[in-house]
Order: sequence, then C-alpha cells, then structure tokens
Amino acid sequence: MDIKVPRGTQDILPSETGKWQVVEELIREQCRMYQYKEIRTPVFEHTELFTRSVGDTTDIVQKEMYTFQDRGNRSLTLRPEGTASAVRAFVEHKMFGYADQPVKLYYMGPMFRYERQQAGRYRQFVQFGIEAIGSADPAIDAEVISLAMSVYQKAGLKKLKLVINSLGDTDSRVSHKTALVSHFEPHIAEFCSDCQNRLQKNPLRILDCKVDRNHPLMETAPSLADFLNEESAAYFDKVKEYLSILNIPFEIDTNLVRGLDYYNHTAFEIMSAAEGFGAITTLAGGGRYNGLVEELGGPNAPGIGFAMSIERLLLAIEAENNEWSEQSTLDVYVIGLGEAAKKKAVELTYQLRQQKITAEMDYLDRKMKTQMKSADRLGAKYVIVIGDDELEKESVMLKDLATGTQNLVPLSSLIDQIKTSSTQLEAEE
Ligand code: HAM
Repeated sequence: MDIKVPRGTQDILPSETGKWQVVEELIREQCRMYQYKEIRTPVFEHTELFTRSVGDTTDIVQKEMYTFQDRGNRSLTLRPEGTASAVRAFVEHKMFGYADQPVKLYYMGPMFRYERQQAGRYRQFVQFGIEAIGSADPAIDAEVISLAMSVYQKAGLKKLKLVINSLGDTDSRVSHKTALVSHFEPHIAEFCSDCQNRLQKNPLRILDCKVDRNHPLMETAPSLADFLNEESAAYFDKVKEYLSILNIPFEIDTNLVRGLDYYNHTAFEIMSAAEGFGAITTLAGGGRYNGLVEELGGPNAPGIGFAMSIERLLLAIEAENNEWSEQSTLDVYVIGLGEAAKKKAVELTYQLRQQKITAEMDYLDRKMKTQMKSADRLGAKYVIVIGDDELEKESVMLKDLATGTQNLVPLSSLIDQIKTSSTQLEAEE
C-alpha cells in the first residue's frame, strides 16, 4: 500500500514547525497588544451557516466546501473560513450583551476549501483572523487593517501593498446591482453558466468570475464607486483619513469586490510584491460586514475583520529571502560513559529538565565522539561528561561548547552553575 497525504494538504515536519511557532507567537503577541482575545470554534458547522453568510452564489459555497452527511443525517461542512463561526458564536453566546463593546476576537486554525492545487493554495490551510463586532466606527476599520499590516511588518516583510475599496451600504449596492444587470443582461449568453445564474441573484459575483475574467464587458462594467451614496462615501473618507493618521499607505481599487457575500463598506486586501511570491500575490483579505450578525439571528451589531493564511505568510517571508535566526533551545547534552555513569546520566538528565534546563542524552549507546557530534548538531550550549572517575569524585566534567573550556564541577553545585552561566550568556547575547 502506498498511502500519501491527500492532495492539497501537507505534513509540517519538525524542521519546519519551529518557523510556524515563531510566527504564531508573533501573531498572538500582536493580538495581545491590540486586545483581541482568542476564540476557538469547531472545525465543522451546520452547512446552512456558510450558505447563509458566505453566500450560496459564491465559489466557496458552490464549489469548494467539504460537505458531508453525518450519521444522524445532518448536513455538516468543514469550515472554509472563520468569520461565519465567530459571528455564530457571538450570537449564540449573546456576546452583544458583554459590557465591553466592540467584542474583539481572533482565531487561528485549519480551514478547508476544495480548490485547484497551485502555489500558495491548499485544501487545508491555517487561517489567522480577527473580528471586531459591535462598532461602526471607521477608526476600528483602520485598527483592523493596522493589525494585519503590523503582523507582516514584525515578520520582516517589506514588499507589502494594501488595496482598499468601499462596497457601500445596502442602498448603494441595490442601485449598483440594477446597473450591473442592465450592463450584462443583453450579452449574458456569452458568459459561463455560473455567471448566467449569478445575473439575477448576485450580479456582483460576475466581476469575480475566474472563467470570464477577460470578457470585454468586465472592463466596462459599472463601478461601485459611482454608486456610493453620500453616507457610504463619507464613511470611506473617514477610513482613509484614519489610515493616513496611522501612516499606512494604501491604493484604492474600485474593482476589489472580494469573494464572499457578507461584505459592505470597507473591503481590503494585502498583497506581496516580492518577486519570489509569484502569482499568489494576496496575503490577506477582509472587510466590513454590517448586517451579518442580524442575518444569523442576532441584533444589529456591525462588524469588521480579516484573515490571512500562515502558509502564505511563510511563503512571503521566504520570497523576501528573510533569514530565520533559529535559536538553539538545547542547554545541555549529557554523556555517560560506562554502565554506572549511564545510570547517573539518566538521573541527571531528568533532574536538569525538572529545573527547566533543556537536556538531551544518548539512547543508542554510541561512542563518546559520536555523542559529541550530536551535541554539536543539536546546538547544545554545554556538554556534561560522566565517567567512572567523575562518578567517584561525585562530580562531572562540564564543557562550554562556545568557548571550549571545561571544568570539573561537583554534582551538588552543577545545576546552580549552569543556571548562572546561562543567564550570563543570555545577557551577553
Ligand atoms: P478570504 O479572502 O477568503 O477571506 O481568505 C483570507 C485569506 O486566507 C487569503 O487572503 C489567504 O491568505 C488565505 N487563504 C484562503 N484560501 C486559501 C487557500 N486555499 N490556501 C491558502 N491560503 C488561503 C476570508 O476567509 C474572510 N473570512 C476574511 C474575513 C474575516 N473577513 C472579515 N473577517
């Protein structure tokens, strides 16, 4: 039998997980700074949650969901994104009643989309996302965008491009929709069957079509920007003003519509311009979703958020050729020579770990020289050697691998000595 990982998924091996942990910690740190609190929701939900929120004419719902019938005949779906679940939880747990509003949430976990496999596009990927629910202040739109930008900046990315647009409020969208229908209707036969279905239900989705993207009518389609009513335009102006206050450069792209139905007002994407990032370009996407909480049975609580995949963040770091300075995490490698010393080594390794000193030893009865090589490879700061001589003197040989110096240290003061020299070492670093 030749069983491999399913297409579009990947194993993240121990040589790679260090990078993931660094990035995840950086993200959690930014969330602490901005006061977003983590929420963990199930990886599967009732299918209806996504058809109602993401929208039943979107590619995600129509083509990309992993939907299955469970043994109780319920239709369930592996979550393709996190906003729907966060908003469902917001309603279900009546977070709108919390004393502190807006409620600021973040999540980090696997999402699932049945997509065609290509660079930066996976069927299982990890999304980090935030949602601020309960405020229609344009300043929070800028906060949400600035959190996304600061994660990328802290990760060392420089070739970033922020693109924003306004999708307007419901009234603006209704007039735009009418204009879109009149624009496409006379030639709709030239479009794919998906677009034909979208025409009456959701003509905005036509602009997002991957099949018909080169049709000449796409270029001349009425732009949402021309249909923004006064209120929507004023809101957008304020978002831009706050971004300028935060010194965040942006471009406006009136064709940016996003692939999910719940958006209105602010929509944005962050792109990478790094050459090595190739055709992937989009790092993160988000926007405002006033009305979604109501759609899912809650009160009128406006929201905004974004999501990014960790996979693309790591690819962008690589594309910008940023070095990973992997810190060694091994303090001590313990070598016991001979049967009696081996027993001491086992005991000592255990004691070191109990004292929060990372320790490793050999379990293959290899020669001293080979064990020293292992210690080197693992980046150990110290090697402890115990032989019969040392055993007799109730001491060990402590070797500092950075300086090459070695001393006989009594077992009774060993741990203290390692702790003191480690703190000195850290201070010097
Ligand atoms: P989205 O644009 O569908 O928005 O996805 C956001 C990000 O998730 C993308 O920019 C990309 O980084 C990542 N992503 C999506 N699909 C894949 C894939 N197949 N492989 C790797 N990465 C992928 C949303 O999901 C919204 N929920 C964002 C949001 C939150 N809007 C408001 N709040």
